Amino acid sequence: MTSSRGGSIGAGVASPVLTKSTAQSIIHMNYDTIYPIMNHSDYVNLLRPASLSPGGSWADLGAGAGAFTFALRELVGETAVIHAIDRDRGRLAELGRGYASRFGGVAHLHLSVADFTGVLDLPPLDGILMANSLHFFKEPVLQQVISLLKPGGGLLLVEYNVDSGNPWVPHPISISTWRRLAVRAGFSEPRLLATAPSSFLREFYSATCTKMA
Ligand SMILES: C[S@@+](CC[C@H](N)C(=O)[O-])C[C@H]1O[C@@H](n2cnc3c(N)ncnc32)[C@H](O)[C@@H]1O
Repeated sequence: MTSSRGGSIGAGVASPVLTKSTAQSIIHMNYDTIYPIMNHSDYVNLLRPASLSPGGSWADLGAGAGAFTFALRELVGETAVIHAIDRDRGRLAELGRGYASRFGGVAHLHLSVADFTGVLDLPPLDGILMANSLHFFKEPVLQQVISLLKPGGGLLLVEYNVDSGNPWVPHPISISTWRRLAVRAGFSEPRLLATAPSSFLREFYSATCTKMA
């Protein structure tokens, strides 16, 4: 997973006059630049070591255009119900189209345009995926997240493995920090699943933990 564009990401947009909302929209532009360096197999390989059981009810919080939703769907199979939640309607619509074309339909996929820090109309979940969406919060929204899970339910996290951010990834959480925060929030100690190099903030990791009873 190398990129001929590596090093250029963000370089042209790191202007001190950017407002936060402009930076947020540029994140999307740059994700489209970053993501071609990873493909579907790379996303699946980040989640595969979690050895997920087939089926169950899942939410992907901050699902975006679905790169990791598709990986999750591949691992939990067609009987799983997946709620893909994002406040960006356009990206969710893209997710729906990509899902239909990859899996031949959208059975058991629920798209929800919503702020995942607010009240969500979801059943108790077996699992939650948060890929590159927790780093928008200085005080991670973990109490809200854990409240959505059944006891023993799992949280799969994909994040940049650094603790210092930038305007586009304001509050990344390294695996060592994540271990501390997760336990404090009522999860089991996270298990590192895999890492993948990134030309932006060095490295991604995936980790899993479960809601303590
Ligand atoms: C960096 S993208 C990651 C998308 C996807 N998970 C991935 O890794 O390909 C972050 C996504 O989280 C969404 N997001 C951030 N904060 C959110 C919130 N409070 N409620 C809903 N969506 C949110 C953004 O709209 C964006 O689509």
